[in-house]
Amino acid sequence: MISDRVVLDDWHVVAASRDLAAGNLLSVKLMQEEVLLWRGSDGQVHAWEDRCPHRGCRFSIGKVKNDKVVCPYHGWEFAGSGACTLRPAHPHQEVPKAIQAKPYHVEEHYGLIWVCLGTPAQPVLDYPEFQNPKLRQVLCGPYDVAAAPPRVIENFLDQAHFSYVHAGILGLEEKAEVKPYKVARDVDGCGVVATDLHFWQPQTNALIHGGSDVEYAYRCPRPFTAILTKKPAAQEGYSESILLTLQPLDEEHVKAWIILSMTNFEQSEEDLRSFQDTIFLQDLPIVENQVPVKLPLDPRAEMPQPADLLSAQYRRWLLDLGLEYGVIRPAA
Ligand code: FES
Ligand code: CO
Repeated sequence: MISDRVVLDDWHVVAASRDLAAGNLLSVKLMQEEVLLWRGSDGQVHAWEDRCPHRGCRFSIGKVKNDKVVCPYHGWEFAGSGACTLRPAHPHQEVPKAIQAKPYHVEEHYGLIWVCLGTPAQPVLDYPEFQNPKLRQVLCGPYDVAAAPPRVIENFLDQAHFSYVHAGILGLEEKAEVKPYKVARDVDGCGVVATDLHFWQPQTNALIHGGSDVEYAYRCPRPFTAILTKKPAAQEGYSESILLTLQPLDEEHVKAWIILSMTNFEQSEEDLRSFQDTIFLQDLPIVENQVPVKLPLDPRAEMPQPADLLSAQYRRWLLDLGLEYGVIRPAA
């Protein structure tokens, strides 16, 4: 079991709301725990340990009947509260109150289902772009990545790779220079923010034709979530935010979820997703080939360049938070 309260008491995405219809069961994994999701007829989502307290059978191979989860092994029934209401082998006996499914905290925001395995230390992260009616919301992923969660976030915050990993789209080798930019800590509920980043990009989004100077800003509201905002100079009035949030499966594997919030209402969701897939699949072999797998937080462990100011501050923030999950902390 994980001892790291920073991740245990945080909310993590585990599924898309649209993938869980009322009356269905869904088995998801979060930090090595198997979690059952199910939705009652009132629309309420429940998240439980995916294990019947009787003889340990996974609930997720059972079914929902009359708003109760029915274990497939001996037919015990569990109400939304988690309480066992029926043991069919003893229909005339009252069920002892101690027989309960183990519930986890669960909420729905931004079209996603979020679970906290511990005690929530704060609300689910704030993403106001999702409420903005001028922006179209497109869910991308989830992408399976064999990498530690903070390595995946750090890659999202990294700018010097654009001209190499995303050459011809987000950068060009002959324009690889990263100009100085600003980084701050603890701004508006975000641990790290970066502003005033400027690049020339050949095809910064799926809509643009021809290159543009693009202004970037980043913010990290949670250790495993980062938000990027792009403003291409060549597209008057265009706005785009990209939220990347991770479902940690274990310390070395994640599912990466992306929400695009953009003024592009012209193109099909399929086209927008396919553009994002292309970018993500270019990053995939890189983050899966970083050694060691876990992110080293000792500033002396790897050799930063000046362009890495943001990732250096991200590491510093994780260190200050006391995060242990997916990182290598400096020897005491
Ligand atoms: Fe679930 Fe027996 S294992 S009812
Ligand atoms: Co990239």
